[in-house]
Amino acid sequence: MRVRIDQERCQGHGRCYALAPEVFAADDDGFAEVVTDPVPPGLEERTRLAARNCPEEAVVVEG
Ligand code: F3S
Repeated sequence: MRVRIDQERCQGHGRCYALAPEVFAADDDGFAEVVTDPVPPGLEERTRLAARNCPEEAVVVEG
């Protein structure tokens, strides 16, 4: 599974890195960045959960 953040959409709500801190982190401005891509085995479901919970639909899951 691949994941990326649509930087145009991210508004810094922080739900992604709260829900899946192994996959996402905050940059210096509070916007999300992906820290591990591809997503390691076992973290797929939480990555999808983070994607569903982003109000801006900025977490883009591929595969
Ligand atoms: Fe940004 Fe959505 Fe996460 S707005 S900080 S990608 S919850």
